[in-house]
Amino acid sequence: MKVLLTGSTGQVGYELARSLQGVGDVVAVDRNVMDLSNLDQVREVIRSVKPQLIVNPAAYTAVDKAESEPELAYRINAEAPGVMAEEAKKLGAALVHYSTDYVFDGSQPSARGEDDAVAPLNVYGASKLAGEQAIAAAGIPHLIFRTSWVYGMRGKNFLLTMLRLAKERDELRVVADQHGAPTWSRTIADTTAQVLSQAHAGGTAWWDQNSGIYHLSAQGQTTWHEFTQAIIEEAGLSCNVLPITTADYPTPAKRPQYSVMSSERLMARFCHLPDWKTALQLCMR
Ligand SMILES: NC(=O)c1ccc[n+]([C@@H]2O[C@H](COP(=O)([O-])OP(=O)(O)OC[C@H]3O[C@@H](n4cnc5c(N)ncnc54)[C@H](OP(=O)(O)O)[C@@H]3O)[C@@H](O)[C@H]2O)c1
Repeated sequence: MKVLLTGSTGQVGYELARSLQGVGDVVAVDRNVMDLSNLDQVREVIRSVKPQLIVNPAAYTAVDKAESEPELAYRINAEAPGVMAEEAKKLGAALVHYSTDYVFDGSQPSARGEDDAVAPLNVYGASKLAGEQAIAAAGIPHLIFRTSWVYGMRGKNFLLTMLRLAKERDELRVVADQHGAPTWSRTIADTTAQVLSQAHAGGTAWWDQNSGIYHLSAQGQTTWHEFTQAIIEEAGLSCNVLPITTADYPTPAKRPQYSVMSSERLMARFCHLPDWKTALQLCMR
């Protein structure tokens, strides 16, 4: 099977380039080959590669910057996945895509399921939701994995920022009233590969039964403050972490207060997901 993988320089894309090796022949492209803001180029690359499967972790992920660049965020996060879905339909290919907990407003202190009402609070979340809808509307075999608070040992992420700051400072002030589940990029990639192995074995009937949205987050929940404490402890650093509120740390984009998602559907159908702290320890070791 020929697999076209986008965003191979990103946190999840980098891990997918490794974990998809067992799934098929992977053609990994970065923005130099396929710039998602150039929809003609997206079409041309797909038509020339002719994949049986497109896996799209590439996205406009700068949540605060998206507030001042909504057109670009929508082109990359909504229009480009829509074009991928159209092209996949012409080729008879399947599409795997990634979305976010930020499609929810986070007003309810309970874990959100796939069928719960969406109401994004910021441009990034709204653009990702529009991408989900464009893919679903195409009526192709697809999987949309909504994930949250992604970190890993490469790329730009909260874990690496906190490790750097904890080495530079004696004290950090971190938001303690936003709740979520930090998810290791490798967990996302390895879970994707496991699900795709099952899809490969199940053929067309599998896609008919299983196409749709799945929440793919580490189990359990925490806050940015507690996550930082766990990172510092695991790294053996000594830095005081003070809890602050969201109001103490204003950002251009509004963020959900409670963005925990239930991944029960994915776990019931496909495979287990680790607890956030266990995955953090594995990642850092
Ligand atoms: N990061 C999170 O906390 C988080 C949370 C929830 C959901 N997600 C979703 O999970 C998926 C993977 O995210 P991630 O954390 O791996 O993101 P990431 O590390 O920020 O990587 C994003 C990737 O997209 C590429 N990209 C951005 N603009 C592009 C363009 N115009 N054309 C082609 N490629 C472009 C980047 O390329 P460059 O390296 O060239 O910039 C990079 O490879 C995304 O769908 C994201 O929305 C992420």
